[in-house]
Amino acid sequence: MFPNKVQELELSNETFEKISGMVSQQCGIHLPETKMGLVKARLGKRVSLLHLKSFDEYLHYIETDNSGTEMVYMLNAISTNVTSFFRDPAHFEFLSKTAFREYQHRFLNQSNQLRIWSAGCSTGEEAYSLAITVADSFTAYKAWDIKILGSDISTYALNQAKAGLYHQDTLKSLDPETVENHFEKDGENMFRLKANIKHLVYFARINFMHSWRIKGPFDIIFCRNVMIYFTPRIREELVKRFWDILAPDGWLILGTAESLQTIPNPFTFIQNNIYRKTL
Ligand SMILES: C[S@@+](CC[C@H](N)C(=O)[O-])C[C@H]1O[C@@H](n2cnc3c(N)ncnc32)[C@H](O)[C@@H]1O
Repeated sequence: MFPNKVQELELSNETFEKISGMVSQQCGIHLPETKMGLVKARLGKRVSLLHLKSFDEYLHYIETDNSGTEMVYMLNAISTNVTSFFRDPAHFEFLSKTAFREYQHRFLNQSNQLRIWSAGCSTGEEAYSLAITVADSFTAYKAWDIKILGSDISTYALNQAKAGLYHQDTLKSLDPETVENHFEKDGENMFRLKANIKHLVYFARINFMHSWRIKGPFDIIFCRNVMIYFTPRIREELVKRFWDILAPDGWLILGTAESLQTIPNPFTFIQNNIYRKTL
């Protein structure tokens, strides 16, 4: 008999520890014991779907899956993808009022290139909010070579991001003018980003724990509400890699609950959650 309800599956401390060790090694996400319920609920669905009898069988399944496919599904299930358009608006205001102005003046006639990275972009709202900010406040952005990379570990989230299609409920926090200017209706209750916004953004699967296979340098990196899930050691490594891939004078912008205060780092603090690579 296969258990047909997720609740019927038992998850022992020992198996939970093995799963959390695997998750931490694969993607850096730290799962303390308090997350046992979350793991049980999210991975229990995979166990049932694969008609396995227990979490131990699931562990064996994933360990012997040489294709790596189940690992991708597991990480999709474990990652928390909560996001929204213009989350923490002060960061976008900082771009339009400070960073973009500086770029337009400082680099005028020098380099007309701007590279922005939404690192851990989830379903794309952050990357598209960056693109909308460019379109609304970067004068003559069409004459510039501007590209925004949105990356995430979750293929599930990235597929939604690439589609650029959102339910009207996700647009509730936007003012009507932004919706009118940058989205078009596409089916019942659905809205699609307009082509000029979509063209500024491209998406790629990047696991922070692996080699990134991107060249850089980036002028601005948004990595918000991602490091909060990592151990201090992994945060430190990540911050060092962000430093290396940022252009001189580039900005690193973290989530409101994140700071570099407890992490040894060479960045200059600018204002809440905003740091700069000053040399
Ligand atoms: C809570 S969302 C944050 C989304 C967006 N940055 C924001 O602030 O609204 C965290 C994202 O980090 C991604 N993530 C977690 N571990 C990762 C890793 N090792 N490599 C790349 N992305 C990762 C998750 O898949 C998830 O989509």
